[in-house]
Amino acid sequence: MGFSRACALAEIPAGEALAATVDGVELAVVRNGDDVYAIYDECSHAAIPLSEGEVEGCEIECWLHGSRFDLRTGKPSGPPATDPVPTYPVRVEGDDVLVDVSTPLTGD
Ligand code: FES
Repeated sequence: MGFSRACALAEIPAGEALAATVDGVELAVVRNGDDVYAIYDECSHAAIPLSEGEVEGCEIECWLHGSRFDLRTGKPSGPPATDPVPTYPVRVEGDDVLVDVSTPLTGD
């Protein structure tokens, strides 16, 4: 499938995640300075959208029980979640954020 457009760079609010769908995969897209990350938009502990959580640096926090996931690796930094959440390669072209959901970086 390759890279497909997720959103415009300017659409991503500072310090928050933007929910976007690419090729049928729901994502939370996060901008941290010049870096942009895409993580599957569901906590690995229960079916809660991570895009509704808080972003701090390279981590996103699930609002329900407070597990934090590293946006680069998808790995949880603390319980109750123990499984990683898939993250995906991101490319920025001009003002477009492109994500390749066919090649997850981590997770199942
Ligand atoms: S549902 Fe996300 S930590 Fe429990």
